[in-house]
Amino acid sequence: MSKPAASARFLARESPAKLQVARSEGSVLYDSAGRKYIDFVMGWCVGNFGWGAAAATRAVERYSGPDYVYPGYTYAPWHELAALLVALAPRGLTKAYRATGGSEAVDLALQAAMVHTGRKRFLSLEESYHGNTIGALSVAASENRERCRNLLAGCDRIKAPLDAKKLGAVEQRLKRRETAAVIMEPVSINLGVMVPDAFFMSGLQRLCRRYGTLLVMDEVASGFGRTGKQFACEHYDLTPDVMCIAKAVTAGVMPMGAMLSTDAIAKSMQDGNAYSTYGWHPRSVAAALATLRYVERHRERLLERVMKTSGYFEERLLAMRIGARAEVRVKGLAIALELERPADASDLQKRCRKAGLLVTAEDSVVLLLPALTIDRATAAAGLDILESCLRRRAGA
Ligand SMILES: Cc1ncc(COP(=O)(O)O)c(C=O)c1O
Repeated sequence: MSKPAASARFLARESPAKLQVARSEGSVLYDSAGRKYIDFVMGWCVGNFGWGAAAATRAVERYSGPDYVYPGYTYAPWHELAALLVALAPRGLTKAYRATGGSEAVDLALQAAMVHTGRKRFLSLEESYHGNTIGALSVAASENRERCRNLLAGCDRIKAPLDAKKLGAVEQRLKRRETAAVIMEPVSINLGVMVPDAFFMSGLQRLCRRYGTLLVMDEVASGFGRTGKQFACEHYDLTPDVMCIAKAVTAGVMPMGAMLSTDAIAKSMQDGNAYSTYGWHPRSVAAALATLRYVERHRERLLERVMKTSGYFEERLLAMRIGARAEVRVKGLAIALELERPADASDLQKRCRKAGLLVTAEDSVVLLLPALTIDRATAAAGLDILESCLRRRAGA
């Protein structure tokens, strides 16, 4: 397992002088002064297929259905989209719930776990991030407890490293049979591309089954090819009880989220009447259907391309002078550079931005999340900028 960042949470907090975005295209953003930036942030796992992704953009431009569908009615494309999501998802996930984004999907997952198990405790990873609702904040980093004084009680956390020893600590908690769900990102991008041990993940699934706790995989950031698999939980051949998705599902063209569950959980939820006024708006559905059909059609080619580009990034990064104690962590196109000090990361981010490359920095980690479809020339140009900024830093 790779070493996690000390407390890396990338809550889309950017440097103080915010970029005034005017236009985006492929892997490039333009600011209001017409300056061009190579984008290695891509809206933080939203623009997986490049800005202006043709299929989703066209689907929304050509959309000619109802302006809106009241959740009390039904709408054929909702069923089509649910079927597509279920077909792409790990086996056993058969129902999809409508949401407007990742936080709402996570809240639905917590709700489903409480209703299905009749329990109220949760277990999650220390320093994690699952969104901005009270439920999502409750299961994320402990520091939220100091900021918001009335979060859900009974939210326990375990700390990385996630290894065999940690399974013992998990079992101590789960065996009390009070924990409704364990929720985590299968590859934690928010923890600076923290990749759990395969032994830990299969043990976790076994313990959840043994003690009647649901396993919730938050794939909001890691889903849709980001880590080199369609969903990151496939690295461990897991069959989660619940999965949350959002971000790249519409290629960034419209907002959307979804919670996927098993039949048994849906039955406890009374077959899924979770009201969300704008959940799965018809135009969002059009964008998602187009994106998922594209993903389904080009699945092998897309994932092969991710792995090829990932290899190129890794090779280039390992050849750079990042620092003796720095670490490079790569899982597909989720890439973290852990530098020695937080100041190094924010300094590098600022230098890159000045030189025309966008990256994120939190604590001592710089994160690179390029489009899965980035072409070699743009990837090379971005990495050249990064390398020259690192070189200038080393020489400073
Ligand atoms: C792992 C994870 N879960 C949930 C969310 C929340 O998603 P949203 O911002 O769409 O509500 C995020 C957002 O960054 C995330 O990274």
